[in-house]
Amino acid sequence: MKRVMVVTGGGDCPGLNAVIRAIVKRASIEKDWEVIGCIDSFNGVLKEPTEIVVLDQSNVSGILVKGGTILGTTNKGGPFAWPIKNSDGTWSSVDRSDEMIRKLQILGIDAVINIGGDGSQRISLDLFKKGLNIIGVPKTIDNDLSATDFTFGFQTAVQTVTEAIDKLVTTASSHNRIFIMEVMGRDAGWIALHSAIAGGADVCIIPEMPYSVDKIKEKIDSRYIKGKGFCIIVVAEGAYSATQGKICSVSSEIGYHNYNLGGIGYTLMNELKDAGVDHDVRLTVLGHVQRGGTPTAFDRILASEFGVKAFELVLEEKFGEMVAYRHPEIISVKIDKVISKPHLVHPSSRMVQTAKGLGIEFGN
Ligand code: F6P
Repeated sequence: MKRVMVVTGGGDCPGLNAVIRAIVKRASIEKDWEVIGCIDSFNGVLKEPTEIVVLDQSNVSGILVKGGTILGTTNKGGPFAWPIKNSDGTWSSVDRSDEMIRKLQILGIDAVINIGGDGSQRISLDLFKKGLNIIGVPKTIDNDLSATDFTFGFQTAVQTVTEAIDKLVTTASSHNRIFIMEVMGRDAGWIALHSAIAGGADVCIIPEMPYSVDKIKEKIDSRYIKGKGFCIIVVAEGAYSATQGKICSVSSEIGYHNYNLGGIGYTLMNELKDAGVDHDVRLTVLGHVQRGGTPTAFDRILASEFGVKAFELVLEEKFGEMVAYRHPEIISVKIDKVISKPHLVHPSSRMVQTAKGLGIEFGN
């Protein structure tokens, strides 16, 4: 029996379970493959005792519609930066990748499918360079991975934000208020841009187009006639003003290497007041709600296509590659091409032109 191990790493997103299910279903067609799931990213193999499970039709039944991941995930630890507590109480990290690869050999793992975002695919590449048979599957609500038109999870997040904007519109228009909605996306403005168009927002602030408060104020003023009106502003968490830098902080959580984003909505609210905006301004920060819930049909389909293709890449021994969506095909690309630069919104792209054509102000 050959064995493929499935790993979900980094932040969760809707559609992870659909990928796991698709891998198990496709593998079951081959009679000589067993699918193993590793718990909490690669940490399940690194832990003693090992935390892995056999995945078959019985434990993937019904998971297509479920958000999150049945395997658990984490963006702490991992084979290259395992946290250890020093005798003086401080923490440092050690490289356990060689030990993990040896352990995988002992467990009889022939190949690994690593489902994750940019950080996880960096780990995939480094493990591949060390000789591990690994295939990448891109996931993130941020849609910021290059080489793929879309990542699954993104459409679901956009749907969630759009529904929230729809709700804000009714209260904003009733009170003649300005609503700022801060959304996720890290350094990419995809969630903000798509949901601003889908929700009919008036202003969309994204990291790729640093803003000026005066431009936003002009738009707000044009939305109020004799004090009546309302305004919906969608701001991406990674956005920043042309005169100030990005708002981010280093996390104090042990083993967490990402910087924390968030707070730009609050800053913008105060900047608008300082600039003389005298209408009521309220802030909504959607946060992790955007990562939860049932995947949309689009994300279920994309995730299922990725899962089937990933297992087929294992059969073809195309290791070191990641599945990707290039409309209308599901292709595979070398992982190093994917992580060399992020997929960001281009300020002169068709989508931005569409938004501008709808009267959406970017504030730049
Ligand atoms: O990358 C997905 C994402 O949800 C980002 O949009 C956000 O900045 C980050 O993860 C939040 O990470 P955490 O769940 O670790 O707080």
